[in-house]
Amino acid sequence: MNSISDQQVQQLDEEPGKEGWQPSSWQSRKAKQQANYPDQSALQSVLDELSDLPPLVTSWEILSLKEQIAQAQEGNRFFLQGGDCAENFKECNSEVITNRLKVLLQMSLALTHGLQKPVVRVGRFAGQYAKPRSSDVETRDGVTLPSYRGDLVNSVEFTPQAREPDPRRLIHGHASSSMTMNFVRALVDGGFADLHHPEYWNLSWVQHSPLADEFQRLADSLGRAVNFMETISGRRAGVLKRVDFYTSHEALHLHYEQALTRKVPRQKGWFCLTTHFPWIGMRTADLDGAHVEYFRGLRNPIGIKVGPTVDAGMLAGLLKILNPESEPGRIVLIHRMGVSSIESRLPPLIKAVQDMGSPVLWVCDPMHGNTETTSSGIKTRRFRNIMNETETAIELHHQFGSHLGGTHLELTGEDVTECTGGARNLNEADLKRAYKSIVDPRLNYEQALELAMLIVSKFEKLN
Ligand code: PEP
Ligand code: CO
Repeated sequence: MNSISDQQVQQLDEEPGKEGWQPSSWQSRKAKQQANYPDQSALQSVLDELSDLPPLVTSWEILSLKEQIAQAQEGNRFFLQGGDCAENFKECNSEVITNRLKVLLQMSLALTHGLQKPVVRVGRFAGQYAKPRSSDVETRDGVTLPSYRGDLVNSVEFTPQAREPDPRRLIHGHASSSMTMNFVRALVDGGFADLHHPEYWNLSWVQHSPLADEFQRLADSLGRAVNFMETISGRRAGVLKRVDFYTSHEALHLHYEQALTRKVPRQKGWFCLTTHFPWIGMRTADLDGAHVEYFRGLRNPIGIKVGPTVDAGMLAGLLKILNPESEPGRIVLIHRMGVSSIESRLPPLIKAVQDMGSPVLWVCDPMHGNTETTSSGIKTRRFRNIMNETETAIELHHQFGSHLGGTHLELTGEDVTECTGGARNLNEADLKRAYKSIVDPRLNYEQALELAMLIVSKFEKLN
């Protein structure tokens, strides 16, 4: 019998636009924002170990998310993506995970009810452990150490030991991601997300919040609608008992991602199996860089952060490389311009995409272009700017014949004071009370729910 060579297998398998791609082909390009491991052989043995571990998600989940994104591209779903800027290993616990899920469920209910369309729910969790940094090093009181790059790489304490990249953390990251994923799946499958019981989603520490009351009214009215439907049909609506939840993270650490990039039986091509929805961060989106090369070969739907430095030519270049066949559901463009740049920067990009005729889902991240530092040195964001950028995004897409199909937020279910403003009008002095984020400031429960409600009312005003 003729045996067929590896090279022939590879050629048979190649899809258009994926020529010459391998999970490792990124290694021939410049990879920005990578950890500098002191011991390469220790890294290699961890990567070998990771390559044998089970994946965190499955190809059929990934393809069903792609299908939902394709529907959102048609305007038939709204995309909600949210979670921490950076997860950390210490907070891989039941309270943090359930609280975050509760906020996302409440927001998705408000959006589904208000926009009258299903919501695609994507958590920034179960793997959001690697962070890009503006500098490789940090200096305090004359001492210079490597920057903290997320728990997947090193530890936040300012000591030489903590800041040295440790490859064992990759195994820890895989384990914490899978514990988070396992708990989320169990909650969602076990009735926690049951629409008959939205009271399960109430956060214990939220008392007398006007928004909690408003949410209660909404949940009650939905409960009545569910009962009505079940009475009329004489059946209990089983489908309302569970919801889909997907995971996402910035696929920054390419050795980690490569170790879990696999082929699966009965499917063409390669899947990144650390998450359903990996995204390319703004700092690593160079056309000829390692990240774009890595993402090119995946079958997952992918996000691309689009900041104010991206022009029409670069965006067209990215779409050509990352979606040469104009496949529906493949690309989510997450623009994060900042409230002062969105009006000038977004319209040319909308036009470039329209000229190409390639399907994309436009999502607004109103967080990352609106970060500022207070006079006392605290990193924060103003709720007003977050709200204004979101509203302007909705208007601009409408005005230029496009459609804003989702939002990407940094939020938490913990009682934090990291962003100013919102229903309780937090001010600079409040930031000191409960500032917990080690990287970017997040919306708290009230601010996140308020934003979901504002999105609904902005869309209502357009119609
Ligand atoms: C992030 O999402 O936390 C982030 C670093 O975003 P960006 O790449 O848009 O700056
Ligand atoms: Co962030």
